[in-house]
Amino acid sequence: MGGLVFQDPDTAYALLLGTQGSHPRVMRGNPSCSLIVEKLESTDPAFRMPPGPTPLPEAARCDIELWIAQGAAR
Ligand code: HEM
Repeated sequence: MGGLVFQDPDTAYALLLGTQGSHPRVMRGNPSCSLIVEKLESTDPAFRMPPGPTPLPEAARCDIELWIAQGAAR
């Protein structure tokens, strides 16, 4: 996620809840409309995050999706 990890935690969280263009990175309560989930679940390695040939393990993706579904609390 371009630069988010280099921010302080409050700024990073605000950016996470913000938009990339018009697309929300994290839409609280709605994993399937959240850009980060689209990036994590993509089958296109050129689009998928994190970068590289191997998707994030399913358990970790599920944790992130559950966190978003439950409201993405800080
Ligand atoms: C689970 C971990 C990660 C997630 C969920 C993630 C998510 C995202 C998202 C949603 C974007 C779209 C642009 C934006 O929202 O600002 C993005 C872009 C980007 N990410 Fe990640 N990212 C992850 C890990 C990484 C890592 C480890 C790197 C570098 C080693 C990285 C490098 C980049 C770069 C360079 C871009 C901008 C270029 C592009 O759109 O391809 N990301 N990431």
